[in-house]
Amino acid sequence: MKGIVLAGGSGTRLHPITQATSKQLLPVYDKPMIYYPLSVLMLAGIREILVISTPSDLPNFRRLLGDGSQWGLDLRYAEQPSPNGLAEAFVIGADFVGDDDVALILGDNIFYGRGFSGLLREQSSGLDGCALFGYAVKDPQRYGVGEVDAEGTLLSIEEKPVSPRSNLAITGLYFYDNEVVDIARSLAPSPRGELEITDVNLTYLRRGRARMTTLSRGFAWLDTGTHDSLLEAAQFVQVLEHRTGVRIACLEEVALRMGFITADECHRLGAKLAKSGYGDYVMAVARDSGAEG
Ligand code: DAU
Repeated sequence: MKGIVLAGGSGTRLHPITQATSKQLLPVYDKPMIYYPLSVLMLAGIREILVISTPSDLPNFRRLLGDGSQWGLDLRYAEQPSPNGLAEAFVIGADFVGDDDVALILGDNIFYGRGFSGLLREQSSGLDGCALFGYAVKDPQRYGVGEVDAEGTLLSIEEKPVSPRSNLAITGLYFYDNEVVDIARSLAPSPRGELEITDVNLTYLRRGRARMTTLSRGFAWLDTGTHDSLLEAAQFVQVLEHRTGVRIACLEEVALRMGFITADECHRLGAKLAKSGYGDYVMAVARDSGAEG
């Protein structure tokens, strides 16, 4: 399975912060925002990943992430000249996807919860059509909304409905089989001029090939769309990391745990960041796994 991180958009809701930089490069406590969605794809076992962003921001993503080999990844980059919708990711990324299944994650989505890695592996390995993830929120009208019956079968999907049929927001993590490329190519822009991910999901639903797993209450799916929610996400990460001593979405640690890099390689990555507490943490994790240093 391949992975795409969509990290474009104009970030207007965060102006003036995002006037000169990409939203997905902003810090969420101790690391850039894009580390969080990247870690999710890595935890799903995905190593070939396409980062899509605007022509002006893409060089900064390249500078930050490089070719990904330091984390045992193969990172590619592609431009989205204007924010024509989330589903455009599959049109832009068609050659990259090739004949594979693909996971799409939005570059501003943060997930945290026990058992998440297992859930990701389960959903990606048993994929049939498309797999969505629902999360109960108090303001579902701000999101794509999924309705499930008592058995958990997906009944309907609506984008930002005025009267939502459920409180289950569809999160920005989607697994698709290879048909997604043709489906995305056949879409017409919506009334707001975008290739809508909800239209992709509706196509799978009509074909009886969409399912949605509801993330449980103990789970955190965090928003970073406004000044307040961005700060709250950072505070959430800070509180958890201080309390447990474990860092969330530390890519060096994830790469080590997934077997993408060795303990010695992990230690060398930490040493390069030694002046920050982050680097000390990476070195300690590597030493615990047998690195000499
Ligand atoms: O976060 C989950 C929600 O994401 C889903 O529940 C919705 O169904 C889905 O439409 C989307 O809703 P948003 O209102 O959050 O979409 P937005 O246009 O804000 O785009 C989400 C992110 O993707 C944002 O960081 C900008 C980026 N983006 C957006 C568009 C339209 C792109 O990179 N390219 C684009 O063309």
